Amino acid sequence: MSEQAKTKNGKLDLRAIAKANRAEIKKYETAKKKHHASPSEYQTKMRDSNNLIEFDNLQTYFFTDIGTVKAVNGVSFDIPRGSTIAVVGESGCGKSVTSLSLMRLVQGPQGQIVGGSIRYQQSSGGQAIDLTKLPDEEIRKIRGKEIAMIFQEPMTSLNPVFRIGKQLGEAIHIHLPELSKEEVHKRTVALLEMVGIARAEGITKSYPHELSGGMRQRVMIAMALALDPQLIVADEPTTALDVTIQAQILDLLRELKDKINASIMLITHDLGVVAEMADYVVVMYAGRVIEQGTAEDIYDRPAHPYTIGLLGSIPVIGRKVEELYSIPGNVPNPIHMPDTCYFKERCERCVAACDGNYPDVVELSDTHKVWCYRDFSKR
Ligand SMILES: Nc1ncnc2c1ncn2[C@@H]1O[C@H](COP(=O)(O)OP(=O)(O)OP(=O)(O)O)[C@@H](O)[C@H]1O
Ligand SMILES: [Mg+2]
Repeated sequence: MSEQAKTKNGKLDLRAIAKANRAEIKKYETAKKKHHASPSEYQTKMRDSNNLIEFDNLQTYFFTDIGTVKAVNGVSFDIPRGSTIAVVGESGCGKSVTSLSLMRLVQGPQGQIVGGSIRYQQSSGGQAIDLTKLPDEEIRKIRGKEIAMIFQEPMTSLNPVFRIGKQLGEAIHIHLPELSKEEVHKRTVALLEMVGIARAEGITKSYPHELSGGMRQRVMIAMALALDPQLIVADEPTTALDVTIQAQILDLLRELKDKINASIMLITHDLGVVAEMADYVVVMYAGRVIEQGTAEDIYDRPAHPYTIGLLGSIPVIGRKVEELYSIPGNVPNPIHMPDTCYFKERCERCVAACDGNYPDVVELSDTHKVWCYRDFSKR
């Protein structure tokens, strides 16, 4: 969107913004329709062969009628093979849009991946590919098979009119058509047992509404596992459940990860949830990564004032506090992000440099990175 389009006599010109953004959408959509990508355009090389996924400066925008929302604004992080990565941050910071970009399920036509890449190492030593450039028919072969997704609310993904056994069986059949009916059924029951469902045989004959919320989420996990994925993306998999069931589901995910040797990208707004299962933590704020590191880096030596605030708002057993800390203020308007650090207005540890441009990365160690102006030599 041009600067002239944004203002008219110093005021926002909404009509011009809507027009400019519709033109922008058309540009991306036409380019997609015209273009028939050849493999050489999406084949790539991983930066590090230990990684399964490498997000590299990913930018995903929504071109709305009132302005452009930079939902994901230059996000980079890796998912090493066999590890659990937690992506945390407040509501609206771009966690889901990051994972939807990976699955290529960003809601179009407003939502578009406008820059950066998501490198993915295909299974069985295949070629590495850039998921952002992959044609639709190719991504369909990967989605649900090599990369599986578990959503927050299982009822949105389970079909209410089919029995559990049929739905699970169908998922298995689509990807393993060579299996006989009996073999599919056997695998269905085995999967339900693997996710801790007692009476698995009987459950195959139940409809989704006959199960409890926790059981439905277990069925969703069984479905994700049905296809031996390399990566499981779990977007707030436990927020719809009560606390004891939440812990059980997280335990289950952790156990299964080791069994099937997959990586997990776990999305949550609650740092407390991931303390025990994440190997790496990525903290997002307003569309950007503001700190990342191993779980020890983040829990034992949090550096960004926002991360420190998030940790301060987790209740700890045995520590008596008058009131849980809550971070004052709100996230800036996503359509008009400042040029400075986005957290500045809410930060209680600002230094003089914070009036300057958005901070560069500070590498505190090989694994620990933070985007902040504080003086970390004195920590
Ligand atoms: N379809 C859409 N159209 C316009 N804006 C959108 C759309 N989907 C998401 N956004 C915007 O993108 C930003 C990031 O949203 P996202 O859903 O990734 O947040 P989140 O971190 O997953 O939050 P939550 O914890 O609430 O799930 C938000 O500002 C949101 O309003
Ligand atoms: Mg979300």
